[in-house]
Amino acid sequence: QAEIVAVDNEQSALDELGERLTEQRLDTRVTLSCANMTDLPFPPESFDCIWSEGSAYIMGVEQALTQWRKLLTNRGYMVVSDLIWLTDNPSQEAVAFWEGEYPDMQTIEKRLGQMRQAGFEVIDHFTLREQAWHDYYQPLKARVAEVKASMPNSNAIADIEREIAIYERYLGEFGYHMFVLRKGA
Ligand SMILES: C[S@@+](CC[C@H](N)C(=O)[O-])C[C@H]1O[C@@H](n2cnc3c(N)ncnc32)[C@H](O)[C@@H]1O
Repeated sequence: QAEIVAVDNEQSALDELGERLTEQRLDTRVTLSCANMTDLPFPPESFDCIWSEGSAYIMGVEQALTQWRKLLTNRGYMVVSDLIWLTDNPSQEAVAFWEGEYPDMQTIEKRLGQMRQAGFEVIDHFTLREQAWHDYYQPLKARVAEVKASMPNSNAIADIEREIAIYERYLGEFGYHMFVLRKGA
């Protein structure tokens, strides 16, 4: 029965979401808000739960924790996912790649420390299954193979191929982790 606000700063993504919500008759429950996550246009203590998958990294996880905490009601929940190192000794090539793509990537312990420091209790946390990575990258790999010949000089294709190579060689050294947090008293 919750009232949901969906935020993105890309209007076309919200438009598409709006169409799907209408198809599924959920549009009366979800309000769309085109806004910057670094400057959300909501009063303090507006939300019982903030849910952010694969996006807090855009403004930096620590900054997101601090800024979004103010928007939570007393003892409200925050669910965030983040790319993390699963080992203290990652391979050189994986480190070099992620230093370029996500320089603030941390171990689980380091993130948990930052979350507690920011005033959250950790209710639960877990790494997404490797199958989730396969579900994402296998269709992407097939699509790259399909279009590559017609786009021989594409930087986007080259970037995706580099990322897929890292996933194929080093998955297990890094993963996507869900953190379920509650605003501390
Ligand atoms: C990697 S996608 C993740 C989307 C979705 N949560 C998921 O798991 O599939 C990141 C999303 O954040 C949006 N985004 C990027 N910068 C933003 C900002 N400053 N404020 C709000 N949304 C932003 C992008 O438009 C994109 O839809």
